[in-house]
Amino acid sequence: MRSMRYFQWSGQCDGPLRVVESKNVNASRRNAAGRLYLIVVVIVGLGVGKVTPLSAAAGNPETVADDGAVVVQGQYLAAVGNCISCHTRPDGEPFSGGLRFETDFGTIFSSNITPDVETGIGAWTRAQFLRSMREGVDAKGEHLYPAFPYTAFTKVTDADLNAIFAYLETVPAVRYRGPSNDLTFPFNRRAMIGVWKAIYFEPGVYQPDSMRSEEWNRGAYLVQGLAHCGGCHTPRNFLGAERQDWALTGAIYQDRVQTGKYRDWSAVNLTSAPSGLGPWSLDDIAGYLEKGINNYASAYGPMVEVIMNSTRHFNTADLRAVSVYLKSLAPKAQTGGLSATDDVLTTGEYLYTIHCATCHLETGRGSSALGPSLQGNPVVQAFDPASLINVIAYGPRLPNPPLPAQWQPMEAYAVKLADEEIAAIASFVRRAWGNQGGAVTANQVAKQID
Ligand code: HEC
Ligand code: HEC
Ligand code: HEC
Repeated sequence: MRSMRYFQWSGQCDGPLRVVESKNVNASRRNAAGRLYLIVVVIVGLGVGKVTPLSAAAGNPETVADDGAVVVQGQYLAAVGNCISCHTRPDGEPFSGGLRFETDFGTIFSSNITPDVETGIGAWTRAQFLRSMREGVDAKGEHLYPAFPYTAFTKVTDADLNAIFAYLETVPAVRYRGPSNDLTFPFNRRAMIGVWKAIYFEPGVYQPDSMRSEEWNRGAYLVQGLAHCGGCHTPRNFLGAERQDWALTGAIYQDRVQTGKYRDWSAVNLTSAPSGLGPWSLDDIAGYLEKGINNYASAYGPMVEVIMNSTRHFNTADLRAVSVYLKSLAPKAQTGGLSATDDVLTTGEYLYTIHCATCHLETGRGSSALGPSLQGNPVVQAFDPASLINVIAYGPRLPNPPLPAQWQPMEAYAVKLADEEIAAIASFVRRAWGNQGGAVTANQVAKQID
């Protein structure tokens, strides 16, 4: 089997995901309809029980582990699904769980999915595993929290899920039980999730679109399903459900930093909007997902972990299929806000010339020797400037050993520039050279600094 070295930030962040409500799409509809939903959810949820469990087998008669090819395929698919990033706590053994997830409803911990019989999924049947991935129900018939992206995994075929199960049966069994969840009422009742699912969850395997090519369908299957790109790139409503009407137009993602605080990141627009992947070619997208770098961008935030543990392992055909699918998404963008005033833009341009133009050039286009283009760059133009502020304030968070980048890393400016100055530079680059982002305030910068 190919070795896939597992990558994790050490000591920098210990909880990768915080599901947050999107503040920038259709606020009025959200509030009116949302409150009503919540009331219904609470009332109905209290009356609903768990689902009938599937019977557990003694040992596991359905084991397919001796079929080497299936296991290798399963290892590949587990990388595509990035199971390891969410199911490994800092310094924990791979897949043994215990990683902490903050949600607006409280804290939960990922499960041990090694084949340990007592604390992992060693006693699960294949049918139980398939049901958990497809319906979000565990072996005891309890509903699982959607921080486990079964809303996407439900689209995965039986054959692919079987292969993942076969692979997981071969990883070292680890005896480890994570801490108990700490959720607020009524969300501490797993039955509540049954109601959430009734409203927001559409189970069902991916249905190919016969009007599209096989390659396009493969890309859609991966992006919407196993690779769950929407988990970070699609905005969520106030109950944490992805808003399909704004699919892949960008969303806020938070990670936990050393101080225990959460820092916002904006996962960018992946549609073909000018502020998204519009300017990128198929090779630009595939190159970024494989190497973490292209003329427009270098991964420097949460995408680093996605690339290291998942997309760089994609085979060439799958990288291409994902790119073809993303390129086909109709342009759609959340508003980036209004431009800053001329005064701020003038200050920003002046500061840019002093601090940034040596590498990103006066044209904003960078060069293959010095740094990426800021013109037509999705991070620069994102609806929310969080990721842009982070890279200016902290510099890129690059993996060690680094991605095969050909650039000298950029420094952290939080130590030498005031919040107002960073805000002015950010406002300027979001409007210069045809970019379409909005003004950034000193308060927005201060919020990112911890
Ligand atoms: C975005 C984070 C995330 C990713 C990616 C992820 N999981 Fe999970 N998974 C979780 C969390 C959190 C739970 C616990 C849910 C709960 O307790 O309700 C979980 C629970 C599970 C369970 C139920 C285990 C039990 O004992 O109840 C299984 C099985 C599982 N995951 C398998 C997988 C596989 C296989 C993959 C990769 C294809 C994967 N997960 C990817 C977060 C994730
Ligand atoms: C864990 C959350 C997360 C997941 C899952 C995720 N992304 Fe991202 N993505 C981000 C964030 C945050 C950024 C902003 C820049 C960064 O982190 O480097 C980003 C940036 C990007 C960029 C633009 C890079 C740039 O600098 O302009 C592309 C392209 C991208 N992601 C594609 C994908 C694809 C395709 C998938 C699914 C295979 C995916 N992402 C899954 C969080 C995520
Ligand atoms: C010494 C050269 C240098 C200077 C000066 C510099 N940068 Fe960078 N910048 C880079 C490099 C190189 C990268 C790619 C990440 C890496 O490998 O360090 C980058 C990445 C970025 C990104 C992320 C682009 C993406 O999508 O991945 C932004 C935004 C950015 N720089 C803005 C700025 C701003 C604003 C300034 C001035 C305050 C600045 N840079 C100063 C070299 C530089």
